[in-house]
Amino acid sequence: MLSFLTSERKLQSALSLERYIHTMGVVKEAKKLAQRYNADIEKASYAALLHDCAKDYPKDMKLRFCKEYHIPVDDIMAQNIDLIHQFLGAEVAKREYLVEDEEILNAIKYHTTGRPDMTLLEKIIFIADYIEEGRKKFDTLDEARKLAYEDIDKTMAFILKNTIEYVKEKNRALHPLSVEALEYYKKYLEE
Ligand SMILES: [Fe+2]
Ligand SMILES: [Fe+2]
Repeated sequence: MLSFLTSERKLQSALSLERYIHTMGVVKEAKKLAQRYNADIEKASYAALLHDCAKDYPKDMKLRFCKEYHIPVDDIMAQNIDLIHQFLGAEVAKREYLVEDEEILNAIKYHTTGRPDMTLLEKIIFIADYIEEGRKKFDTLDEARKLAYEDIDKTMAFILKNTIEYVKEKNRALHPLSVEALEYYKKYLEE
């Protein structure tokens, strides 16, 4: 694995300034959440740092790399290219940033859609991405920020539910992993 600082520099040239600032916000939030829930702070920082490492690749490049790295692009991903960046990001973190830790790679791999029964690190990155300090205000943000430090599973359910509603409203393609994730976490909302 490259050092944090080397990774940070490398990343800076792969991301837009806006995305870089967002990323550093996610790092800060992920560290706080790791502290709150007794997760590994170093792993949380790395996963947060690299979570969007492939997001600013141009569309053609994303598709080309998916082919090269044997990442299956399903219909939903083809319709909504943005969904590719979580799977491609994990692969880029492994190949270019030399991350071998499966836990870190999976936290990157599922940070947008979520999935059922996530690890603590996966939940931390998913939530930190949603609530980081630089996020522009939207309806459910304050509630998510408060909930995040009270009950992590309830927060997962809350964010998944709101994200899915938003995707449906915008008539965007919804990834089955998100649906499966909400199916799994919704029990926490009823408590
Ligand atoms: Fe992302
Ligand atoms: Fe992000």
